[in-house]
Amino acid sequence: MAEPKKLYIKTYGCQMNVYDSERMAEAMGGAGYTEVATPAEADMILLNTCHIREKAAEKVYSELGRFRGLKDANPDLKIGVAGCVAQAEGAEIMRRQPLVDLVVGPQSYHRLPEMEAKVRAGGTALDTDFPEEDKFELLKSRPKARRAPAAFLTVQEGCDKFCAFCVVPYTRGAEFSRPAQRIIDEANDLVERGVREITLLGQNVNAYHGAGPKGGDWTLAQLIWALAEVDGLERIRFTTSHPNDMADDLIEAHRDCAKLMPYLHLPVQSGSDRILKRMNRSHTADSYIRLIERIRAARPDLLLSGDFIVGFPEETEEDFRATLQLIEEVRYGQAYSFKYSTRPGTPAAERAQVDADEASDRLHRLQTLLTGQQREIQESMVGRELDVLLERAGRQPGQMVGKSQYLHAVHVTAPDAAPGDMVRVRVAESVTNSLGGVLI
Ligand code: SAH
Ligand code: SF4
Ligand code: F3S
Repeated sequence: MAEPKKLYIKTYGCQMNVYDSERMAEAMGGAGYTEVATPAEADMILLNTCHIREKAAEKVYSELGRFRGLKDANPDLKIGVAGCVAQAEGAEIMRRQPLVDLVVGPQSYHRLPEMEAKVRAGGTALDTDFPEEDKFELLKSRPKARRAPAAFLTVQEGCDKFCAFCVVPYTRGAEFSRPAQRIIDEANDLVERGVREITLLGQNVNAYHGAGPKGGDWTLAQLIWALAEVDGLERIRFTTSHPNDMADDLIEAHRDCAKLMPYLHLPVQSGSDRILKRMNRSHTADSYIRLIERIRAARPDLLLSGDFIVGFPEETEEDFRATLQLIEEVRYGQAYSFKYSTRPGTPAAERAQVDADEASDRLHRLQTLLTGQQREIQESMVGRELDVLLERAGRQPGQMVGKSQYLHAVHVTAPDAAPGDMVRVRVAESVTNSLGGVLI
């Protein structure tokens, strides 16, 4: 047998890219590659990229530049760019950085093995199609490696919402939901390979409307209830949700489905109705707050997470204060906040931009408020009993690290436990990014 070729993949951006990188590694496994941990050992380097903000996209070019020495040392080394920068910039990437042999978009990476053969033969390869065939179907039946206890599973891709700041509808294309049975089969396969917790992924996951096994479309809640029947699967999560797609049956699932974890990522972006309108979000601050009230009535202990953009074009100090006020009212256990970044081709790029220093100042004030809330909510876990799904060994001897139902990282001394075990823990302390506890 020929010696396996070595593949190094670096992943940027969201969880969907993490999932895609795993699928790309599997596809390349079929073409004789095994994954390695450093670019220096590799015969092929793939950067799976993100285009969401300017910084994310620019990082890719600086990383590519660093591979020049490796390519000089190993003329057989091939370099590929995948993901959303590949989709957005296409052939321009090879013009700007001639080290790149291959460019593949997020909808066509099941064609990687053919593309690899083409670049091995001395050419370049570019594929940023949105093909008719189902990439997930074509990626089936790859080597069945043992998996870590928590896994991602993409159920829905693309987005039709066209928020005025966002590149996703352009890089990921139109919204598409996978048929329910394929997702159930994939979940069963993951569980057989050691998975205990699945996070269902989609850019608008709660807009899921895939074909049901017996005809008719299923909602995300129907899919969750079907997955709850999978023996050995103990936890279900989903991300990212849009406030406009938070259906009643999904809220009820948060009340009634024991396997659905009490955590919800529901980005609001801004607390100013004027800005929300200019963002094309089609919800108001008030409708969002009412929605949160309904969800919390169904599941009072739910930990809420959100995304915020400050310095969106035309945002005034008053608009910004409305965002702070919304945060005060809602209280977030987790949050991601960003300074607006101009994305070429999106509607907001053409509008009056907020002064950069002013935007930095707002981001700082926003993050101070959010960090305080996060810390308080994390500290409120001290003294409580939590269920922790152990994921890996910790730094100290006998220590394990896992996640609580609220997604906090929890350290616990459990010398006899193994990854995949679900343990009951009493929380003893809250440190910067995690909780510490003792087994019950
Ligand atoms: N589909 C998800 C999130 C997609 S991108 C949703 O609708 O919520 C993740 C986050 O990046 C967004 O929620 C937004 O807060 C941020 N983001 C997207 N485009 C951005 C831009 N141009 N500048 C700054 N932040 C941006
Ligand atoms: Fe982007 Fe808006 Fe779609 Fe989310 S809902 S992916 S922010 S366009
Ligand atoms: Fe980035 Fe693409 Fe995800 S732009 S956030 S990697 S969908």
